[in-house]
Amino acid sequence: MDFIRHLWTVTLLCVAVFPCACVNYTQIDPLIYDEQLLWVGGGAGQVNTYRIPLLTFTPRGSLLAISEARKQSSSDIGAKFIAMRRSTDKGATWSPTSFIVDDGFLADGLNLGSVVVDKKTSAVILIYSLCFHRYQCSPSSTMMVESLDDGFTWSTPQNLSIELGVKSFAPGPGFGIQKRYPPKVGRLVVCGHGSIAGDGVFCILSDDHGKSWRYGAALKSIPYNQPKQNLDFNPDECQPVELQDGSIVINVRNQNNYHCHCRIVVRSLDGGESLPVEELVFDKTLVDPAVAAGALQKQGVLYFTNPANAQERINLTLRWSYTDGKSWEKEAVQIWPGPSGYSSMTSLEGNSPEDNKYIFVIYEKGHKECIETISFVKIHLYGGK
Ligand SMILES: *[C@@H]1O[C@H](CO)[C@@H](O)[C@H](O)[C@H]1NC(C)=O
Ligand SMILES: *[C@@H]1O[C@H](CO)[C@@H](O)[C@H](O)[C@H]1NC(C)=O
Ligand SMILES: *[C@@H]1O[C@H](CO)[C@@H](O)[C@H](O)[C@H]1NC(C)=O
Repeated sequence: MDFIRHLWTVTLLCVAVFPCACVNYTQIDPLIYDEQLLWVGGGAGQVNTYRIPLLTFTPRGSLLAISEARKQSSSDIGAKFIAMRRSTDKGATWSPTSFIVDDGFLADGLNLGSVVVDKKTSAVILIYSLCFHRYQCSPSSTMMVESLDDGFTWSTPQNLSIELGVKSFAPGPGFGIQKRYPPKVGRLVVCGHGSIAGDGVFCILSDDHGKSWRYGAALKSIPYNQPKQNLDFNPDECQPVELQDGSIVINVRNQNNYHCHCRIVVRSLDGGESLPVEELVFDKTLVDPAVAAGALQKQGVLYFTNPANAQERINLTLRWSYTDGKSWEKEAVQIWPGPSGYSSMTSLEGNSPEDNKYIFVIYEKGHKECIETISFVKIHLYGGK
């Protein structure tokens, strides 16, 4: 029976996608293959704290790790750099840190952010906000920098608010997507959250490879544009992924624990134009302390990372699903039992057997507090075989 069932899932997956990128589900057995600390805070040099790690592949097969380098304190406000390290050998070694953006001395400086790769132009696009909290500054700006040479050099910051308006928008944190399956193949979709006014999750869309952007889907909070109390509906930081049926699933931080101490999951069926409430569920398996989490779809398998605890940011855990998140496999992998915060994932998109074997996780890791270091983990999907 089991064999027949597995044959069926493998067959269905092959029929659904062409060219065939099959995974034999029975062989998935994630193993932590390598782990390295990419950034350690603590005040030495110009940086007090590294936070909000992002990770992306590039079209040429490199990995880029990106984080906020908070200059004076660990606070969300304050002046920062955007720090980057680059690996051209699939995460084995990393370049020294370079600071690709410097916001100077701003009281309410930059906040990361979403990184999105355009496979047609090979651009790596990074979107972040300035003055998100409007602390001693106004208005908020949504900013973009772009690299056309595999992350080596970056453009000067471009102000997307000239086009979009000055509503506070905190992208991600995580990655944005480029649509691979219909509808709207090639579209860039970057999702994030707002603040009063404009609170809830919303996405910005580009159909011309990042030249122009407009607002797309929104999932509004309740009560909308009003101060929140415990248990209100307050969708916050989020990570979109595209499923092989072309829908976009957004995994969302449930800031005020509406309905559960777990993740909100909402789906767009029209390429990020709308997020209908009919497509919203609370995923009670994904217990969560209200944090930014990682999600990734690779070859029909959906992966998820978060600190899997209802109250505290501890216990960074990897889960996987063969059913687009309708159910999760029982064998989760614990990446780190101790303090752990934000996480993000990527994988290389070449079709070599090597690139099919690994996914990569970056996360906030510590011993006493989760904001002590940023750690990179290479995960072998087939138990090292
Ligand atoms: C999937 O992998 C299992 C375990 O290695 C193997 O027994 C089975 O034959 C494989 N199924 C297919 C359809 O390749
Ligand atoms: C970005 O553009 C908006 C709208 O024109 C403006 O109000 C804001 O000051 C600009 N931000 C920066 C950092 O230049
Ligand atoms: C850690 O996560 C696992 C799931 O991987 C769960 O079974 C366990 O209860 C969690 N432990 C704590 C202390 O949160």
